[in-house]
Amino acid sequence: MRHTKNRRGRRSLTPVLPVLPVLLAGLVSSATAWADAAPPGATACTGCHGPAALGSVIPSLDGRAADDIVAQMQAFRSGEREATVMGRIARGYTEEETRAIAEWLGKPEATRHAKP
Ligand code: HEC
Repeated sequence: MRHTKNRRGRRSLTPVLPVLPVLLAGLVSSATAWADAAPPGATACTGCHGPAALGSVIPSLDGRAADDIVAQMQAFRSGEREATVMGRIARGYTEEETRAIAEWLGKPEATRHAKP
């Protein structure tokens, strides 16, 4: 009985094993391409401000200039501009991080998602 089980187990794994490195390499390279395209923290913004924002109360950031995004983030951080969530979010990023994210968000959609 035990012997039979082991042979069955080996037989079912064998076809998958040669493919595994290929699958893993694919995962790693696509993750790297995405990381290269977006600065740290930027994909958190697009989670709310991306296409899902259309038709919701969350304003779209499409077509906003980087300088404008930076200025709004400063206003949120200081409390000068009232907000439900952006005050707390803006305080979670340094000036440098905000600038890098704003530059990325300020690019046209096609450029932003292009692979390097
Ligand atoms: C949890 C959802 C959420 C996330 C995440 C988020 N935002 Fe927002 N954002 C909002 C909402 C809602 C508003 C409207 C102001 C408010 O009520 O906070 C807003 C407003 C803004 C505005 C002002 C837009 C305008 O029309 O004046 C800017 C700029 C902005 N967000 C940038 C960012 C950046 C940059 C990030 C990432 C660091 C980010 N947001 C992450 C929900 C989000």
